[in-house]
Amino acid sequence: MPGLIQESPFKTITVQELHPTFAAEVSGVNFQDVSEEQFKEIIAAMAKYGVCVFRNTGLDDEAHVKFSERLGELDNIKRYLGAGRKARYDLYELFDAGNIDSETGGVLDPNSARAHSNRGNGLFHADSTFNPRRASFSLLRACELPPPGNGGNTDFADSRTAFDELPQELKEELLANDYVGAHSMAHSRKLGSPEFFADVDPTTGPMQRHRIAQVHEPSGRMNLYIGAHLHHIEDADGNEIPNSWELVEKLNKHATQRKYTTTVQWDRPSDMIIWDNRCVLHRAGGGVFEGKYRRDLRRTTVHDDSPTAWGLNSKDQVWKGFNAQAAPKHAGAVGV
Ligand code: OGA
Ligand code: MN
Repeated sequence: MPGLIQESPFKTITVQELHPTFAAEVSGVNFQDVSEEQFKEIIAAMAKYGVCVFRNTGLDDEAHVKFSERLGELDNIKRYLGAGRKARYDLYELFDAGNIDSETGGVLDPNSARAHSNRGNGLFHADSTFNPRRASFSLLRACELPPPGNGGNTDFADSRTAFDELPQELKEELLANDYVGAHSMAHSRKLGSPEFFADVDPTTGPMQRHRIAQVHEPSGRMNLYIGAHLHHIEDADGNEIPNSWELVEKLNKHATQRKYTTTVQWDRPSDMIIWDNRCVLHRAGGGVFEGKYRRDLRRTTVHDDSPTAWGLNSKDQVWKGFNAQAAPKHAGAVGV
């Protein structure tokens, strides 16, 4: 008997699943002119898969930003500037996720302050969890890649399925207590490079609060909103719970087990990955290219406009960057 042919819900795109529970490679998109019908299908694919990989998009900086704007209001790097930092690109909407030294144009020295900052990117995280208003989509595009076989992949973890498969007792504990996560960029920097950031005390800097267990609006599924920026966990009254750090580690470890992760290899410049920070975690895979080969990746980040976008944070809060408050000499990358 021939196998069942599953009808795809998509008419204008083709979807190849990359993992049993999430992530897909999407083909058939003409990025020079994405029709409204096709755009809606991309949004639908994002809701279902959380990560969509688009090969050889042909996008340049400007077209990348323009396309991203269709997904919502974009974050920009202006608050990270100053203290001697200059934007690498003309477009403030582009975040630098690569390893190019903005002073010399060469490969970033792995011992430089920015390289130490970037190490936090190697830990599973969601972008902007440390911001009062969190991010929905990140769109990361390759401009220049190391030769194949030298690393530089990006890994993803399915935090919705991780929620579904939590031990029942823990799931009930999270739901019954309405736990809140306090997130800090300084914290993940420190986790990524503990010695270099030994002097940094995340508790003296800004923390932003978002619920740990929450609905991912586009899919209606529950999600674990955690990752490397998660510094501690509070109860509904705002008190840090006993054994908070143990639970932070337990949740992060649970959600990033191998069975929940997949690796995406960048094949060529203009490949682009879109992920939804409200339902997946990601990390830079690292590799022998570091300090040796150029890896120029640029990202746009879309402000979340779902009902939980601001978490428990005030909407009129002025967010002061890590650079401004903690350790100017350890100026961070504009990439996390
Ligand atoms: C990012 C990020 C991972 C990578 O751009 O937000 O975490 O592989 N990038 O560069
Ligand atoms: Mn990131």
